[in-house]
Amino acid sequence: MSLPFALASHLDLALQTAAAALGWVERGFLPEVRVADPAHGDFQANGALAFAKREKQNPRALAQQLVDRLDPSVRSTCEVTLAGPGFINFRLKPAALLAWLQDYDSEAHLQGGAASAKAGQTWIVDYSSPNTAKQMHVGHLRSAVIGEAICRLLAFSGARVIRDNHIGDWGTQFGKLIWAYKQAQATAPAALATALANEPLEEFERLYKAGHHAAEADPAVLDAARSELVKLQDGDAVNLDIWRHINGVSLAAFQQIYDQLGIRFDFAHGESFYNDKVAAVYRELQQCGLAQESEGALVVFHPEHPRFAQQPFLIRKKDGASNYASTDLATVLHRAETYHIDGAAYVIDFRQSDHMDQLFLTAQKWFERTGRKLPRLEHVDFGTVLGEDNKPLKTRSGENIRLKDLLAEAEARALALVAEKSRDLTPEEQTGIARIVGVASVQYADLSQNRSSDYVFTWDKMISLDGNTAAYLLYAVARIRSIFRKAGLDPARPPVAGASAPETPQELALARRLVQFSDAILLATSQLRPHFLCLYLYELAGAYSAFYAVDRVMVDAAEVRARRLLLCHRTLIVLETGLHLLGLRTLERM
Ligand code: ARG
Repeated sequence: MSLPFALASHLDLALQTAAAALGWVERGFLPEVRVADPAHGDFQANGALAFAKREKQNPRALAQQLVDRLDPSVRSTCEVTLAGPGFINFRLKPAALLAWLQDYDSEAHLQGGAASAKAGQTWIVDYSSPNTAKQMHVGHLRSAVIGEAICRLLAFSGARVIRDNHIGDWGTQFGKLIWAYKQAQATAPAALATALANEPLEEFERLYKAGHHAAEADPAVLDAARSELVKLQDGDAVNLDIWRHINGVSLAAFQQIYDQLGIRFDFAHGESFYNDKVAAVYRELQQCGLAQESEGALVVFHPEHPRFAQQPFLIRKKDGASNYASTDLATVLHRAETYHIDGAAYVIDFRQSDHMDQLFLTAQKWFERTGRKLPRLEHVDFGTVLGEDNKPLKTRSGENIRLKDLLAEAEARALALVAEKSRDLTPEEQTGIARIVGVASVQYADLSQNRSSDYVFTWDKMISLDGNTAAYLLYAVARIRSIFRKAGLDPARPPVAGASAPETPQELALARRLVQFSDAILLATSQLRPHFLCLYLYELAGAYSAFYAVDRVMVDAAEVRARRLLLCHRTLIVLETGLHLLGLRTLERM
């Protein structure tokens, strides 16, 4: 017996086929197969109820007709029963559970199973996207962490994924910054070079502040800074060099954080990349009647919209300069035409929702009026990281917490945990483990929340072996690996031949959880919400603990031992695959 990876979709299809034979599909029947409450079965189809209501018929009788028409193969894998007013319940038979577990025996095979959902699609994920010449602070955590998980989920489901860091590398701040940079170069070149070599972003921040204060105190400096900006915008070679240097150094510094988080971008086409592409946007939007001049600026109104009828989308400033909106519009077009994308996911704070709504609405009309096909545009929004006082997380003195410091503190706190729990390991081993546990804890605490909500950042809760945490899951992985190690078995090739079907209640519960991996992936990927996968992994680890507590693995009976090793091994690969999809690194021991 060989089973499809996604059993819920498989049952959905089987029900649709049965419904088609009854002539219900054209009348709008939808099976609506979901993962069921374990008390009822593995999956439940509710579609007969809504359909019966519309058809004014008895739902239970309709459900029965559907079940009678089901392909016989469904009955050989599942017990099919009717319940309540017309639910159809499916419970996988132990032999089917075994067959699924035998088929999906490695990370690569799990991916092979999942890869049909988005096969042939190309997605751009626009994430992290900080502004250059500034440090990344805690406000930049979520986009990077959630964005990377989304890239991995999409790729796992078969999409070609392009990772784009849409950095803010073009703006009025460069006038003051370049002025102060030139000042420092003229007066203290050696000190500048040292500072840039040691702490480049701190130095740029310092220079910007110096420039800002000087401009406030002296109008002549303000003028000088403005003219540096104009020179930059006009392509002055010296200013362009300084600007390039600032951006290059910024990206290199960002990369140190990305390395810790396991992120590698395909490119960082920042706002400046679109400088020569905005003129076409102004022209086209005016030609197709979307944009109009208003007091010297170029704006787009959306008359049908409750707010954007009054509040226009400003796409060119009064002084003729481009802005966030013009570059974002140029970005939509460039991505659509250059990479032929099917979708773009913008992983950006919910506070930019108005901007995103106006952008998407404008792009939709623009593409429609110019006969282009608009890719799917998704604002993957997220809430704020809060401190324990329920206000945006800050240092005690009220400053932004640097991401660098936050990750360093996570490692230090993880080391305390590891040193206490794993006294038998050498200090070097403990440090290596803490490095992974610390960063993973921060990533996981972020990912395990529904991204649309705010969450409270609590060190004690997130760096803990109890609860839905990274340490708990990494520990579950390490524990399974240690079972193989102690038994002298290779976890890549466990001796599972001759395994019998799961039998005890704990074996069955664990096997059922394992099979639901596909549903968790599908849910997390279709909604671009990684917390569904987190919750699944947490429940899987719980089912494993319950199994391991009562069912001894290394028993004498060969087929029982083989099936328990099979369950251990498949739990291991599903946990590892899931954690890797979230962007976490896993450990062999802990
Ligand atoms: N640089 C922007 C900021 O710091 C985020 C850019 C997000 N991406 C985009 N295509 N707008 O707020």
